[in-house]
Amino acid sequence: MCGIVGYIGKREAYPIIINGLKRLEYRGYDSAGIALYDGNEIQLCKTKGKVVNLEERVAQEISTKGSLGIGHTRWATHGVPNDVNAHPHYSNSGDLVIIHNGIIENYGSIKKELINRGYTFKSDTDTEVLVNLIEEIKKNENVKLGKAVQLALNQVVGAYAIAVFDKNKPDEIVVAKLGSPLAIGVGEDEFFVASDATPFIEFTKTAIYLEDEEMAVIRRGRDVKIRKIKNDKLVHPYVQELQLNLEQIEKGGYDHFMLKEIYEQPSVIKDTYRGRLLADEGIIKLGGLEDHISKFTNANRIIIVACGTSWHAGLVAEYIFEDWARIPVEVEYASEFRYRNPVITEKDVVIAISQSGETADTLAAIKLAKERGAFVYGICNVVGSTISRETHSGTYTHAGPEIGVASTKAFTTQITVLTMIALKLAKIKGTISQSDYMLHLRELDTIPTKVQEALESDAKIKEIAEIFKDAANFLYLGRGYNFPVALEGALKLKEISYIHAEGYPAAEMKHGPIALIDEHMPVVVIAVNSNHYDKVVSNIQEIKSRKGKIIAVVTEGDTTVREMADYVMEVPNIPEMLSPLVTTIPLQLLSYHIAVMLERNVDQPRNLAKSVTVE
Ligand code: F6R
Repeated sequence: MCGIVGYIGKREAYPIIINGLKRLEYRGYDSAGIALYDGNEIQLCKTKGKVVNLEERVAQEISTKGSLGIGHTRWATHGVPNDVNAHPHYSNSGDLVIIHNGIIENYGSIKKELINRGYTFKSDTDTEVLVNLIEEIKKNENVKLGKAVQLALNQVVGAYAIAVFDKNKPDEIVVAKLGSPLAIGVGEDEFFVASDATPFIEFTKTAIYLEDEEMAVIRRGRDVKIRKIKNDKLVHPYVQELQLNLEQIEKGGYDHFMLKEIYEQPSVIKDTYRGRLLADEGIIKLGGLEDHISKFTNANRIIIVACGTSWHAGLVAEYIFEDWARIPVEVEYASEFRYRNPVITEKDVVIAISQSGETADTLAAIKLAKERGAFVYGICNVVGSTISRETHSGTYTHAGPEIGVASTKAFTTQITVLTMIALKLAKIKGTISQSDYMLHLRELDTIPTKVQEALESDAKIKEIAEIFKDAANFLYLGRGYNFPVALEGALKLKEISYIHAEGYPAAEMKHGPIALIDEHMPVVVIAVNSNHYDKVVSNIQEIKSRKGKIIAVVTEGDTTVREMADYVMEVPNIPEMLSPLVTTIPLQLLSYHIAVMLERNVDQPRNLAKSVTVE
């Protein structure tokens, strides 16, 4: 994971890099570091901890002069998070400085070889090995930095987005990418480098996204020369206009990004279907789907690959596609799928779901599915991300930047897209009646209002959070469409509050988890109007007779569950197929408030990162 930022131009690099690193902290926050170069002396400072710790250290230890600089925020892969393992790393001569996001898998053998040649290493990182390999090649082959980087990268196995500069070349930064994202912001006589466009959005709206196996030599005030790493072929840069704006990546008065993103759901769900859903006319238009409809309608089955919360969205989709479009669906953890020699044929459609569009396992699953002839459709949030480019076609979710590490609005917008696809296919296949089709289109159009109403229970949910914040464990139960919501509720709680939580299909409880229930066990049950309502009521009864504490998500006006539950969180009435879009809201808020009360770092929970670009 890790975030990288670089600048070369006419301004002071320090404020650009430090602010950029803050915006990229969602990618990792184990350590941070910066190197600045004013043409005379390289100033390098790095520290364990977050970018604010780096800022304090910089103020005490180094000069911030220099209009060339690179910075890094780290999610540790090789070596514990400490000052020494933090990036940037010097080469042995002190001439080259590098930052790296990714993993060099064969670093061990390269390191041995370099040690035999007299190189020494200060850190345990694969990155310090890479910068010394570049140095060795540069010296031995007597080549410029760009060429040395290229030759070195042809020897390494792994993933990388790197930025490196040479003390003897004060007007040049060399960058390269394979598997980890890298964007180059193109300003007037200045260039920016970053893992995504957020660090430079206030300076330029034009960017080049490097493709895998490409590198670029960026020359101050001149140009960006892109080449293929393998065969040295020059590549014509494709310069993109960025849609992002500054407000989208700021907290806008909320205490945390996560809360802001929870509250954005009414508007981003609307953004996701705006122009695509014409409810009164009975039309769903999805650009990426129109040309490939027959792939879906003729498919033997749909395989959904994803990780984490995106996998939960896939599980919701399984219910919708099977129920309404009558297409068999399998939902796979991308990490399992990629390694278990799955049976895939040309008659399969694979849907890859990913907020970041960079998740390494999902990307590998896509590549495997493509190799075996499947048609691969992507549902991504980040425009221009690797997954959006690797898939044959796809739909963006339009959730806007999701910065809180815990995924919230990405989940509901993914479900929105998946629902539109399923309804469109159901209509074409004739597996849904015209009245059900129209009803669900119109109901989908009311979801933003219903999510808004669900958000209005926030104060009540905060009171419930106060009561249960010290519980050691939670169970989450749901059935049918709301079983994946139970999984998602449990994931949200554990990742940001560090409270152990498990999600189960409600009926599975009696096959084991019921043994855990006593008066100390809060059980969150999704018990909204549905075909399974009576069954859920029976499950609640089973918990109650074992003195479990019941927190139920109920439909407005419900009386049966209200009488049985200890606490209720109300949501508006909604057809079962669309209910996950609304039932997930109170669970997000419950986790959020518990985590805040426990003084957790809500936006950057320990050990996690937003974009998981390593296996
Ligand atoms: C949980 C969470 C993760 C991600 C997972 C996949 O809140 O954020 O579980 O859902 O890492 O990430 P994407 O969707 O970017 O592929």
